[in-house]
Amino acid sequence: MSELAVEANPVSVGTNATPVLEVKDYKVGFKTERGLARAVDGVNFTLGTGKTLGIVGESGSGKSVLNRSIMGLVVSSRQIEEGSVKFHGQEIVGTNRQPYWGKKMSMIFQDPMTSLNPVMKIGKQIGEPLRMHLGMDKKQAAERATELLTQVGIPEPGRRLKQYPHELSGGMRQRVMIAIALSGEPDFLVADEPTTALDVTVQKYILDLLRKLQVERNMAMTLITHDLGVARGRTDELLVMYGGRSLEQAPTETLFNNMRHPYTEALLESIPTLDHAKHTRLNPIPGSPPDIVNPPKGCRFAPRCKYAQPECVTDDPPSVVDGDHAYACFFPVGTEANQLALEKNIAAGETAVGLPVTKNGQVF
Ligand SMILES: Nc1ncnc2c1ncn2[C@@H]1O[C@H](COP(=O)(O)OP(=O)(O)OP(=O)(O)O)[C@@H](O)[C@H]1O
Ligand code: SF4
Ligand SMILES: [Mg+2]
Repeated sequence: MSELAVEANPVSVGTNATPVLEVKDYKVGFKTERGLARAVDGVNFTLGTGKTLGIVGESGSGKSVLNRSIMGLVVSSRQIEEGSVKFHGQEIVGTNRQPYWGKKMSMIFQDPMTSLNPVMKIGKQIGEPLRMHLGMDKKQAAERATELLTQVGIPEPGRRLKQYPHELSGGMRQRVMIAIALSGEPDFLVADEPTTALDVTVQKYILDLLRKLQVERNMAMTLITHDLGVARGRTDELLVMYGGRSLEQAPTETLFNNMRHPYTEALLESIPTLDHAKHTRLNPIPGSPPDIVNPPKGCRFAPRCKYAQPECVTDDPPSVVDGDHAYACFFPVGTEANQLALEKNIAAGETAVGLPVTKNGQVF
């Protein structure tokens, strides 16, 4: 077990002034017939002005629920939230966040087709929030819409404003989404896999555009991505989610250079990135994510972890804080204890959970 201090509340980025967001022990659950599905189970982070927090993790780990709930987008009457989220120092858990939408907080999604109205012209879709949130008249809204389309790099904005979403390419639609999301000049933007549906060159263009607009407006952003290459190049800090929890978080470079959590390591080995050489062999993570209604006792990653020891099965590893780096593991990667744990499992041919381990330390 590590000798480092154990604390509940880990790292933060860019927090000299009052942070844009301060999230403490935040939980979101859905009441289901089987019991409470703990989609977000005690997440902590702080996000300063102009900074980007990257959020990575497998499908179902709670990335979208975390961000949507912070924004106050309640999808179901069975949804409950607990803990604390301070927006510019003000508690917002349990309050209606709708007055902030568009103006203070905004969001862009993976698939613009699901968020754009297919039967409404682009101009109207950009103009309506401007009139509603910012009180502009029709003429002002039309002028601003043209300006916004120019800012997101759409040529011939006048013509585009008169078109419907299906007349635009995927990349163009995503730019329209960005224009709508940023029209009210929010100071916090959630970008939930904003480029996953797009091809590689368009992805890069959209991410560069987001970065440029973010810098110009000094906007704080959470960037949810499946691509660790994107996460590495475009975030200040990273949060690695698993089964509703943050297993590791640190400044991005620290996390990549000195990763501690076996899940982060496994994730990096399993996910293709834009930077990965084509011939790189990827190792999928064996097994599946934990049941969030009845999570396993002990470490939630134990059934899939090649280092798992008996204590991993019985005890829940607390979050260890080492400066601005936090992780929840009894045998952190890069330590002697971790090496010994793997050697023990290789010798036994399996982990403490019974996951087979090969002679070269692989699990399948
Ligand atoms: N309305 C709901 N009722 C019950 N469970 C829900 C509801 N919405 C989400 N969940 C559950 O919450 C968990 C987290 O979902 P979430 O959409 O946040 O995952 P994600 O990390 O964004 O995954 P992906 O990478 O696939 O987008 C999942 O297990 C999901 O099934
Ligand atoms: S070594 Fe143990 S505590 Fe660490 S991730 Fe693996 S199972 Fe969890
Ligand atoms: Mg999601």
